[in-house]
Order: sequence, then structure tokens, then C-alpha cells
Amino acid sequence: MEIAIREACSRDAAAIARIHVDTWRTTYAGIVPDDFLAGLSYVKREQAWNETLSIGLPAAGILVAEAAWGEIIGFVAYGVPEREGAPVSHGEIAAIYVLEEQQRLGIGRRLFWEAVQRLSPYGISSMLLWVLEDNLPACRFYKSLGGEYLDRDTITIGGKELEMVSYGWRDVTEIIPE
Ligand SMILES: CC(C)(COP(=O)(O)OP(=O)(O)OC[C@H]1O[C@@H](n2cnc3c(N)ncnc32)[C@H](O)[C@@H]1OP(=O)(O)O)[C@@H](O)C(=O)NCCC(=O)NCCS
Repeated sequence: MEIAIREACSRDAAAIARIHVDTWRTTYAGIVPDDFLAGLSYVKREQAWNETLSIGLPAAGILVAEAAWGEIIGFVAYGVPEREGAPVSHGEIAAIYVLEEQQRLGIGRRLFWEAVQRLSPYGISSMLLWVLEDNLPACRFYKSLGGEYLDRDTITIGGKELEMVSYGWRDVTEIIPE
């Protein structure tokens, strides 16, 4: 399947929001409370992604995976987090989602590598991300890309306390394929 990975623009906000909501529902059913998932709104998500897309920070971005027929089928949001105003030296994948029917076709791996490559000119080669511990397929995905378990924390979503784990890469450029 021919897939192009490109930088997202403001007209992609609705497609990104749809993937975000639909993939949350398919991925987190049985993990995140049902009423929280049912309450997710395409309109609110689109507004939020529109705001994010309009900020345009350096060393941060959103990439979309676009199928040959023009449909956006996945996206990744990446950047360098700031902690108390001071930039840290590692990159972070803030969100990575591929529509359920297009998963396991190598699209997530491509989105991940493209995000990493876009951080490289900023001198960022170490990476970190957080994932819900019960999201086992995603944990397997990160491990398959060389991520090492780092830490754990909790997050409350829809009134339910959930365990999160972090995965890290000391030098992700070492494992980017040629
Ligand atoms: C996690 C996700 C981004 C991975 O993207 P993807 O396109 O499905 O994954 P890829 O096809 O690139 O997989 C690369 C490798 O990761 C591993 N992997 C991916 N999905 C897996 C799964 N469900 N079970 C086991 N291993 C998996 C495999 O080793 C795979 O290589 P292989 O297919 O050659 O064996 C995607 O499945 C997704 O959007 N899931 C739902 C949302 C989600 O959990 N996002 C992450 C939130 S932190």
C-alpha cells in the first residue's frame, strides 16, 4: 500500500480528530471508562488539534500518514517537552495513532522514524514516551522499536486511576534503518 508521510496542516485537523477519537475508542475499550470514551467529541478534538497546529513550535510537529486515495489514516505528534520553562534534551512522542483497520502494516513504525528524523537536526537523539500499561499492543510496538522500560506513574482518566509506563531510547538514531 502506498502511504505518504507528510507534515500536517490546518486542513488536516478534522481528520486527525476523527482518528484520535475513533482510535481511542477501539484501543481503550475495557481500559478507560466507557462513559469517558462515549463522551469524546470530534468537534472538541478538532478545535484542540487546530490550536496545536496553529502554534508552530520549533522542534515539534505533527505528521500524518496519507493513503494513495487521499485519506489520512494515522498521525504522530512529537516534540521536545518543556519542564518549568527549561527545555529538556530529549524528544517525546506525545501521540501516535493509526486507524484500527490499517494497523500492523508498518505505518506506525514509519511515523515514529520520521518524527525522530525531524528532531535530529535540533540535536535530539534520545526519546521518551508514556503509554498506558494495559495497552499491551502499543507496549510491544515500542519494545519492537528498541524502547527500554524506564519508569511508571499513574494518570486519572474519566475518574479511573490508570497505570502508565515510560519507554526510552538513549540514542534512537542508532536503530533507525538505512
Ligand atoms: C501502536 C500503533 C501506533 C503501532 O502502529 P502500527 O502501524 O499498527 O504498527 P507497525 O505495523 O508499524 O508495527 C511495527 C512492529 O511493532 C510490533 N507491533 C505492532 N503492533 C503490534 C501488536 N498489536 N501486537 C504485537 N506487536 C505489535 C511488531 O513487532 C511490528 O512489527 P511486525 O508487524 O513486522 O511484527 C498502532 O497500532 C495504533 O495506533 N494503536 C492504537 C493506538 C495506540 O495504542 N497508540 C499508542 C498510544 S501510546
